[in-house]
Amino acid sequence: MHFLPEKIDEYVVAHSETEPELLQQLTRETYQKILQPIMLSGPYQGRVLSMISKLIRPKTILELGTFTGYATLCLAEGLQASGEIHTIDINEELVDFQRKYFDKSNFGKQIHQHLGNALDVIPTLNKTFDLVFIDADKPNYSNYFHAIIDKLNPGGIMISDNVLWHGKVIEKLDPKDISTQAVLEYNDLLKNDERIESLMLPIRDGLTISRKK
Ligand SMILES: C[S@@+](CC[C@H](N)C(=O)[O-])C[C@H]1O[C@@H](n2cnc3c(N)ncnc32)[C@H](O)[C@@H]1O
Repeated sequence: MHFLPEKIDEYVVAHSETEPELLQQLTRETYQKILQPIMLSGPYQGRVLSMISKLIRPKTILELGTFTGYATLCLAEGLQASGEIHTIDINEELVDFQRKYFDKSNFGKQIHQHLGNALDVIPTLNKTFDLVFIDADKPNYSNYFHAIIDKLNPGGIMISDNVLWHGKVIEKLDPKDISTQAVLEYNDLLKNDERIESLMLPIRDGLTISRKK
């Protein structure tokens, strides 16, 4: 979905950092072998995640929703040398694919995969985080917020993907559409929770950056 006119979008991409070759390979193989490749963060959003991570220089990152590892690798680019990223996905068929690309990157040893429902895995992580990326199932977004907020360090950053949900957030709500309902509730939660300050960015399907006070 393009929120900017397509030609402006192309110009923006052309004048931003080029996607690393390994991520181009990962994207090709995802499109060849994996269902719903559209779930990839993609080249421009990937460079946004990489830049934010490099600005923060996190020691610990948590990602909810690994898929084939595209955003994991983008976020890992900003890690401190001794830092680590923990990434959770419920789909066990993706684990070997992810590991293959993690090991081809410079960050293989810093990336820790967790298999399972993120709501079950988060409480088992005995860590706090400088950066969290929420990109798993939309109906649980508010639950994810409540599960991780106490694990986010003061000054820590939470990035939430798909907050514009293909533009459905401004359309008439179908009462059967639980994902849109969940995203609407989540966006209100981020706006109103006093522990964070949030900025919604119209990047790709919408990214909200929240900073813990
Ligand atoms: C949009 S994709 C993630 C894309 C990835 N972050 C990227 O940018 O390339 C969402 C992923 O969330 C996973 N997922 C869905 N429900 C989940 C849950 N309850 N716990 C953990 N992962 C879940 C799916 O298996 C899927 O791989």
